[in-house]
Amino acid sequence: MRIVHFSDVHVREDFSFREAPKIGWRRTAALTELKFGGRARDFGDAGGTFRTLVSAMTALKPDHVLFSGDFTALATEKEFSQAREILGDWADSPDRFSAVPGNHDRYTAGSIRARRYERHFGHLLQSDLPDLQTDSGFPFVRFLGNAAAVVGIDTTRLAPLPGLSFGEVRPAELHCLDSLLHSDALQRRHVMLLMHHAPFGPRGRPDTPTHGLWRLARFLEVVRQHPRLTIHCGHIHRRYDLAADATHPRILNPGSGTLHSGPGFYVMELDDTGSLRSVEEVRVPFTV
Ligand SMILES: [Fe+2]
Repeated sequence: MRIVHFSDVHVREDFSFREAPKIGWRRTAALTELKFGGRARDFGDAGGTFRTLVSAMTALKPDHVLFSGDFTALATEKEFSQAREILGDWADSPDRFSAVPGNHDRYTAGSIRARRYERHFGHLLQSDLPDLQTDSGFPFVRFLGNAAAVVGIDTTRLAPLPGLSFGEVRPAELHCLDSLLHSDALQRRHVMLLMHHAPFGPRGRPDTPTHGLWRLARFLEVVRQHPRLTIHCGHIHRRYDLAADATHPRILNPGSGTLHSGPGFYVMELDDTGSLRSVEEVRVPFTV
């Protein structure tokens, strides 16, 4: 079975500072970083690179696609619509596409109140084990064949200030995840845990308190109970495959799908037992 995993495409709607009263203080602060902090240059035409990425992954004919958050830059209606349009029929059905939100998809209180992520991608929250799913739609489970499953969790939080982008798993969702990982249905399968925040960075150290996953020890206690689990995350815009050790399972992060330094994704092959047989990096051209 072939699985593609990509992340952090950050489709961006451009604003001018004249629009500040309309777009609110959070997005105005983000605009400063975008225009003067080099972020606009680093991502170029993210929508254009994203289209190339979708073509490249379509050519590989994957059985299932994973996306680990940050479809958007500022969680605007236009950014969500564009991301959905670029994905085309890939995102029509949970049978082919699993996704979780990133902190940029919940950038403002208004975008959360409007349930903007759910309105565009909520149909993908359908779970194969709905009895162990909270009202938020997480965690959701997707069986892949007879030997593997995707479990999606939401680690996003509304940041108290722009620039703070830490996350955590809400206690009710962590409780459900704990029960799921103990269930017969998942004990028999290899579990691919899909989440936005990275529990550990490329060098095997936890991410910083302002950017990383809070309450890490409790989270690790839960996930380490499953014998065959890999973590598939994003948020840190670097591609890395961190081997399991005594403290954590194997962690795979395809990095940003559209960032100038190496836009692309991971393509993985699962064997008959559901375990990862191979992981390869696929690079795509950057669109300025
Ligand atoms: Fe992020």
